[in-house]
Amino acid sequence: MSRPGEQIVTVDDLHVEFETGGRSVEAVSGVSLEIREGETLAVVGESGSGKSVTALAMLGLLGNGRVSAGTITWDGRDITNASNAEMRGIRGNEMSVVFQDPMTALDPLFTIGSQLREALRVHRRIPRKQARARVVELLSQVGIPDPESKVDAYPHQLSGGQRQRVMIAGALACTPRLLIADEPTTALDVTVEAQVLRLMRDLQTETGVALMLITHDMGVVAEMADRVAVFYAGEVVETGTAEQILTDPRHPYTQALLQAIPRPDTPRDKPMPAIPGVVPTLDEMPSGCRFSTRCPLADGDRCELPQTLHDVGGRQARCWRAETPAETRRIAEVAP
Ligand SMILES: Nc1ncnc2c1ncn2[C@@H]1O[C@H](COP(=O)(O)OP(=O)(O)O)[C@@H](O)[C@H]1O
Ligand SMILES: [Mg+2]
Repeated sequence: MSRPGEQIVTVDDLHVEFETGGRSVEAVSGVSLEIREGETLAVVGESGSGKSVTALAMLGLLGNGRVSAGTITWDGRDITNASNAEMRGIRGNEMSVVFQDPMTALDPLFTIGSQLREALRVHRRIPRKQARARVVELLSQVGIPDPESKVDAYPHQLSGGQRQRVMIAGALACTPRLLIADEPTTALDVTVEAQVLRLMRDLQTETGVALMLITHDMGVVAEMADRVAVFYAGEVVETGTAEQILTDPRHPYTQALLQAIPRPDTPRDKPMPAIPGVVPTLDEMPSGCRFSTRCPLADGDRCELPQTLHDVGGRQARCWRAETPAETRRIAEVAP
């Protein structure tokens, strides 16, 4: 076991490719990140920025994709090209995952109890009776009312929020050291979202599990994160503490994401402010700064060159303008 605060997983210069229609496309282009014992790393960025693919690579679940370069180190061990058997020993045991849609992850034909028992038995070989007691304990730990009877309920008999709680219970069944939660509350309404986020925070305090929380919502980041990695178009464009990212963002994309958080006083009938333009597709990626096609500050030759992620203001940002926060902040001033 590592000491608290020690790195449990390190992703170094990860590249992931998919073969589509006879061509290969790169979905993740040199992502580096690390997660330490007990902390919450929020991974944030718009849809299509490579957040899920990075997580799937860490879990050894890339399917038709492959790691074409870089390394993933789990607890000091290189698992970049680990066998399925080796990954099955880690996944669901030391490193577990919760996805966005609990209805597709739960089997409608089996009771909640039998699915959670299965999760327990695969790794721990617990006798049936003891497993049932542990399942009831898990359900009550994640705040499912009347857990004794919910053990025998089917997924459709639970609300969306309760199903997500069951998924979290399943992910925590084997007391993992890292929980990867990929947009865990995106399908839930705001009240239930707040409850599920609070649950994850409480469980983290109780169990010391580290959390990799994937979200497209800076509001969730503000609520949950210790550290943040901002993804854009397959790259990390800024990374630092939650405070640095939320109060002094240096990359124009981070700044734009923060601008897109709906304010409490925004009228409900007004559409949510969005960042103009779209994430470039994998086969038309700009050769220079990948955000340059949408960046309100892009001008001239330096933005047409690839940008490096470099130390600036105590964190790292991938923009040559990041040294001059005042310039970057111009976005805040011109935004509505
Ligand atoms: N199985 C796949 N085959 C081909 N392309 C994929 C596959 N999975 C993801 N991609 C592409 O990789 C990019 C990153 O996707 P993803 O990691 O899912 O984004 P997000 O940040 O929304 O989680 C997207 O352009 C997506 O279309
Ligand atoms: Mg995703």
